[in-house]
Amino acid sequence: MIIAIDGPAAAGKGTLARRLAAQLGFDYLDTGLIYRAVGMSMLRAGLDPADGEKAETLARALTPADLTAGDLRSDDAAQAASKVAVVPGVRAALLDFQRQFAAQPPGGQGAVLDGRDIGTVVCPDATAKLFVTASVEKRAERRLKELQSRGLDAIQSAVLADMRERDERDSNRSAAPLKAADDAFVLDSSDLDADQAFAVALDYVKSRF
Ligand code: DC
Repeated sequence: MIIAIDGPAAAGKGTLARRLAAQLGFDYLDTGLIYRAVGMSMLRAGLDPADGEKAETLARALTPADLTAGDLRSDDAAQAASKVAVVPGVRAALLDFQRQFAAQPPGGQGAVLDGRDIGTVVCPDATAKLFVTASVEKRAERRLKELQSRGLDAIQSAVLADMRERDERDSNRSAAPLKAADDAFVLDSSDLDADQAFAVALDYVKSRF
């Protein structure tokens, strides 16, 4: 059983995916982390994340240890991830790993994957597909609060601009752009708190089993 969760940055996908996985006893894969790891490898090597050929080489050399690097949650990592994610060769290199996880999750029960193209490209036959979204203003507000709670300085207008830039790049690329699968359940979390969003998502997922 596979649950695919897609949507733009800071829509609440990660929280929802983790809670669903815990509730159902499934394994969880944050696919954004894989793109972030490739993006950060490029930055650490002093390379431009938009250099497609180099990014593909690093994507092919990625190891599980790269997914635990400390700085993957930073905004620099997010922007670099969004840039390497445009490259078709990078996406192809990361596809097998994601599909393998979905087909044979470590715990053997089921898998929850979140990202941008899980329901459309990585697992088009997923048992349940959720597209989690919220207005860009709400998402920027949540992101700002999260940064502040981690003691980081952030300016609201900069967070909003950053979010718009990433939405634009993720949605308009030609390789596996961010979009809802035709058969996805669209969950707009703009006016829901995390508990409410979880309840709606769980109802939908149960209806698919
Ligand atoms: O989910 P996230 O914010 O950690 O993702 C970081 C970037 O990685 C995102 O801006 C686009 C890219 N990404 C992708 O293209 N496809 C995925 N399945 C997951 C992430």
